[in-house]
Amino acid sequence: MDRGNRQRRTFLRSAGSLGAGLLVGGCAGPSASIASPHVQGRKDAQGEPEVSPAEDLMREHGVLSRVLLVYDESARRLESTEDMPMDVLTSAAGLLRRFIEDYHEKLEEEHLFPRFMQAGKLVELVSVLRSQHEEGRRLTDEVRRLATSKEVDRGRLVTVLRQFVRMYRPHEAREDTVLFPAFRSIVSKDEYEALGEAFEDREHALFGEHGFEDAVADVARMEQALGIHDLAMFTPR
Ligand SMILES: [Fe+2]
Ligand SMILES: [Fe+2]
Repeated sequence: MDRGNRQRRTFLRSAGSLGAGLLVGGCAGPSASIASPHVQGRKDAQGEPEVSPAEDLMREHGVLSRVLLVYDESARRLESTEDMPMDVLTSAAGLLRRFIEDYHEKLEEEHLFPRFMQAGKLVELVSVLRSQHEEGRRLTDEVRRLATSKEVDRGRLVTVLRQFVRMYRPHEAREDTVLFPAFRSIVSKDEYEALGEAFEDREHALFGEHGFEDAVADVARMEQALGIHDLAMFTPR
């Protein structure tokens, strides 16, 4: 079964039928809900399918949120002197660099931020978001350096992980609730749709047909390695 984004996009556009939710799933765990029935073939007031550049970016935020969870658990283990498999942290920082910093954030920096600046909208927010991308890259460099050093400085590593999580939770929340909703209003319908395709093409060029699904599977493996893969464990008892 091909679970590629383009296929899903095409399918959702043309079919609107039952079963689209089955196109993603498998080992990806909770993320299987990304194509849940509420988006199948539904159209908004302008008659546009509800698969858009904003949805693509928000799904990528879902991957980011799961890496933040891995960072949280890593910091907790490091603070408590529990065993911490450093290769998990190296993988998590590697996924952040590859999928979020060098791809997702580049899309924001090249396609969203300049359009807001040009439109003179949310200029201050865009400026903060841009500087946080820079700071995030610096922190990721440091996580990678610390996690691979011979004598791991657990205290410094905890500080850097916590700083990254503290910055990125509000960062992605602000993008989801303010920047992305506003984006649709500053571009034409045609431009918006073309950008969706451009995002897909970039993803496929960088990561192949299954870039998003592979990233979800990667982070699911990290959760498994740290014992935080069972979603039900987060439900209060
Ligand atoms: Fe961002
Ligand atoms: Fe983002």
